[in-house]
Order: sequence, then C-alpha cells, then structure tokens
Amino acid sequence: MDLYEHQARQLFEDHGILVPRAEVTDSSKEAREIARRLGGRVVVKAQVKTGGRGKAGGVKLATDPAAAELTARQILGMDIKGHTVGKVMLAQPVDIESEFYVSYVLDRAAGRFLAIASAEGGMEIEEVAATRPEAVARIPIDPAEGVAAAKAAHIADTAGLPPQTVDVLVRLWEVLTREDAVLVEVNPLVRTTQGQILALDGKVTLDDNARFRQARWGEQKSAHDDPLEAAAATKGLNYVKLDGEVGIIGNGAGLVMSTLDVVAGCGARPANFLDIGGGASAQIMADGLSVILSDPAVKSVFVNVFGGITACDAVADGIVQALETVQLTKPLVVRLDGNNAVRGRAILDGRAHPLVQQATTMDGAARRAAELANAG
Ligand SMILES: Nc1ncnc2c1ncn2[C@@H]1O[C@H](COP(=O)(O)OP(=O)(O)O)[C@@H](O)[C@H]1O
Ligand SMILES: [Mg+2]
Repeated sequence: MDLYEHQARQLFEDHGILVPRAEVTDSSKEAREIARRLGGRVVVKAQVKTGGRGKAGGVKLATDPAAAELTARQILGMDIKGHTVGKVMLAQPVDIESEFYVSYVLDRAAGRFLAIASAEGGMEIEEVAATRPEAVARIPIDPAEGVAAAKAAHIADTAGLPPQTVDVLVRLWEVLTREDAVLVEVNPLVRTTQGQILALDGKVTLDDNARFRQARWGEQKSAHDDPLEAAAATKGLNYVKLDGEVGIIGNGAGLVMSTLDVVAGCGARPANFLDIGGGASAQIMADGLSVILSDPAVKSVFVNVFGGITACDAVADGIVQALETVQLTKPLVVRLDGNNAVRGRAILDGRAHPLVQQATTMDGAARRAAELANAG
C-alpha cells in the first residue's frame, strides 16, 4: 500500500524527522484559512500517488492566503499522470540550500535492503541516475544489522551527504522497520540556509502482509482509493476495479485471470477482477453482484465457475438466492462447468430469470458477455 505524501510526512514527524508545518484539505476556501494559519506564504502540493508532481504543475508557491486559495483551486481536480487530485497539502516554504536524495528499499532478489542516496537530489534525480550513476550511492543493508549511527555515517559519507544527515538516516530506518514499510524515500531531503535538515517530500510503501499487526493502518483510508474497492473490502471480497464494461465473477484467481484475458480477446474490456474462491454462498454472490452492478461502467456480467470442491449446483443455488436480494439491472451470462455442472445448469434454467443466460463454454460465454456489453 502506497501512502500519500501527507501520510508519509506524518510518519516522518512521528519518528522525529523534521518536516515543514503542513495541513491537508479538499477545499480551496479552506486552503486560504490554512495559508493564514501557516503564515501566509505556502507551497500548495497536489496529493496524488505518483512522482513528478512538481514538473506536472502540481507543486506551486503561493505568496499569500488569497493566492493559496486560487492555486488550490487550480490544482484540485487536476489530472497528474492519470491521477485526479482530490486533496492538496499546504506546507510552509523552506529556504533550500541543497537538495539530497535518500531512500531505503527492499531488495527482494538479494534478500536485503538497499540504501540509495545522492547529494544531487530534487526533481532531476532520474536524470542524474541515468546519466551519472556514480553520483548515486547504493549500499546494501543487512536486515539483521539495520542502520545504526556507524552505518548511517557510512551511507552519508559514500553519497557525499553532510554529517547532519546521519541522524535522519537512522530515524528513517526506524520508520521503515517500525512501520513495516518496504520502501521509504525522501526526495528532496534538504539543508536549509539555516543549516537544518528537513524532509520536504516523502514516499512510503507499507508491506500489506504486516497489516494484521499494524492497528493504525485502519486509519489510512488510502488502502482503497476506489469507492467500489472500499465497499468490496468491507464485505471481505477479493475485488479489484478495472476500466472496462464486463463485470467478472469467478472462482479461483487463476480462472479469473484467464477470464479477463478471454473477455479482452473477445473485444471487450473487463470491469473488474473478483475471485469468490471456494465461497459459493448466496451471500458472497449477492455481495459480489451488488458491488459489480453499482459500477456505472458495467454493461454485462460474466459469472465463470469451474466446480470443484464447491460443486456447480451449490453455485447455482447461490446465484438463485442472490437474485432474491439483488435487483439484476444488467444481463448476466453464466458458465458452469465441472463438478455437478448439469445439475447447476438445470437449477438456473428452472429459475428462468429474463436477464440470465447460460453458455456451456468459457469462450462462448465470454463472447456473449462481450457482445452484450458492446451492444448496451
Ligand atoms: N515546503 C517546501 N518549501 C520549498 N520548496 C519546496 C517545498 N516542497 C517542495 N519544494 C520544492 O518543490 C520540488 C518538488 O516538490 P516535491 O514535493 O518533491 O514533489 P515531486 O517530487 O512530486 O515533484 C522539490 O524538489 C523542492 O525543490
Ligand atoms: Mg519529490
């Protein structure tokens, strides 16, 4: 799970790393109030989970509260690399003397962490890394040893960072380990003209596998930015929103993945990934259908089930019962195959819902669902 800059900033602050004073809002009016509280001059920053906001016009200096309101209005709603800006952070401007780059990242292949640091941080870091890789230090970290003062001093020294950054490097390692992150990045970490070291931008990726032991992640609403994904998550569904028109329900991640491919091969785009696993209960079917049908982009739904331990008649029963609670508004194409497929199909035939049709093969069902989506 990636965090927004303002969430990363909070984690840095919690671990004693200096950050500019800042507040977040989704309203340009409130931006004016915040700017007043922060002393008038502010940097207005788009909160989107992608880098390069500065170059895209998503980071701007406003000289007074009225300008902050205007700038916030410009940035809110802006599209940055496919991400719509829903919130801005207003931060106190800092007088920058130098900009550095520092990050810790999990190196899965090596089974270690890697410190990446450069004395030439800022918006051109990709350019620096590409053209002068020697200006970017890469230092392996043994996860059992971590980063204490001596290691931090070695990192700072190798990268050419000033000695004052050592303390920040130690604290940043604490952010990574205590918060269960797989990536922490500060770009830029700056030295101000007053000689202070501050983190001006932050990127943190939390390790989703550690969710069970991180109670505070409940507060990070960012886990599911998409409202449909959030609704599905509260129902315990394994659902991912996609951009197409054919809603997909299947049992088993592998089958669902190939269903997406087959639908795409038939000239339509899948609207989602939804794996109901072995759960064919009416409740799971109803929950899955209601999430999919509440997606306005969906034009048809394809239920693709290969009966195994959960037999097709149980799945068919689940669908029939779900149709009692969920009002079907789009055509539903069902393909049942495998264990007890014949009985399952008979159950659906018996229900004879006008919007439900069956197909005996996956290809045939995908073609039908694609046709319905393209026609509707
Ligand atoms: N609070 C601030 N005060 C002064 N300059 C800032 C501040 N925040 C960001 N900047 C400047 O804007 C640049 C881009 O901002 P940053 O937060 O790094 O966004 P991004 O990396 O997405 O472009 C930074 O490299 C820095 O030079
Ligand atoms: Mg940055």
